[in-house]
Amino acid sequence: MTHTDASPDAARSGTFQIGGDLSVNRLGFGAMRVTGDGIWGDPADPEGALETLRRLPELGVNLIDTADSYGPAVSEELIHQALHPYDTVVIATKAGLTRTGPNVWVPVGRPEYLKQQAYLSRRRLGVERIDLWQLHRIDPKVPRDEQFGAIRELMDEGVIRHAGLSEVNVEEIEAAREVFPVATVQNLYNLVNRKSEDVLDYCERENIGFLPWYPLAAGSLAKDGSVLAEVARRLNASPSQVALAWVLKRSPVMLPIPGTGKVRHLEENVAAAGLTLTDQDFQKLDEVGREEWEKNRT
Ligand SMILES: NC(=O)c1ccc[n+]([C@@H]2O[C@H](COP(=O)([O-])OP(=O)(O)OC[C@H]3O[C@@H](n4cnc5c(N)ncnc54)[C@H](OP(=O)(O)O)[C@@H]3O)[C@@H](O)[C@H]2O)c1
Repeated sequence: MTHTDASPDAARSGTFQIGGDLSVNRLGFGAMRVTGDGIWGDPADPEGALETLRRLPELGVNLIDTADSYGPAVSEELIHQALHPYDTVVIATKAGLTRTGPNVWVPVGRPEYLKQQAYLSRRRLGVERIDLWQLHRIDPKVPRDEQFGAIRELMDEGVIRHAGLSEVNVEEIEAAREVFPVATVQNLYNLVNRKSEDVLDYCERENIGFLPWYPLAAGSLAKDGSVLAEVARRLNASPSQVALAWVLKRSPVMLPIPGTGKVRHLEENVAAAGLTLTDQDFQKLDEVGREEWEKNRT
């Protein structure tokens, strides 16, 4: 049995102003899973994927994360089909990873390529200006200032409104901020993967939005008898709902983007915005999550 609010509402997660002027409910959605296996090609259930996307605004979700490389192109095209002209929904996209097959992701950071991909995303999404565009990876083969320079140009040309980075450390964020204002950072982060704690703390200090990917993960803590399972049972919630509620409580700049191609799972995830963890439960989960992380990284 899980915590299924009568009406799940992402607004219960509170709001954050991306770049200081783009207000979103903090619990967002990741649109990587509305594609085929290996994030390649069309989804197995296109109607289910479209239905999931159409349900987002009804559930108060107004931040959708996607990328040119999801499919590739499939995720952005489905978002357009399901939700254009978007009204109050913010579509955040990315570029910088290329695809040569299922589950294969190759960084390409040539500035002319990054700019081309932003133009193509703008066209596929059907917008005049992309609200938030994030560099999917800094390409180690290309001087990073050239990649940051392309982002600055995209902003100056009005192709993108706000810009962000993905899988970066604090030094890289600071280097990028010399060239353009960094509005968001998107790194792997969850209850049991804490490699980006220092990046998260930096983002909180600097009021930069932090989009944790893979936010539902709970590792072995999801097993019966764990602290997480006990909190979940007490709140009549699933372990992944509690893991998500923990991530949301961790920081006011936290903008989790759980992903699914299924309406049922989407509703369950959004219901986590209505879960309130006590400070005591939060602390206990923090400790066991850190222990799990320390155990698994060695
Ligand atoms: N910047 C990056 O490098 C990067 C990397 C990876 C992902 N991302 C972004 O982050 C988003 C989230 O990451 P993620 O997809 O790896 O992790 P996630 O959202 O934590 O987990 C998604 C997985 O959990 C399943 N799931 C979702 N809700 C569920 C529920 N209520 N019950 C049971 N299973 C559920 C999904 O399958 P079903 O479809 O079957 O529900 C899917 O397999 C992506 O959509 C993407 O936008 C960014």
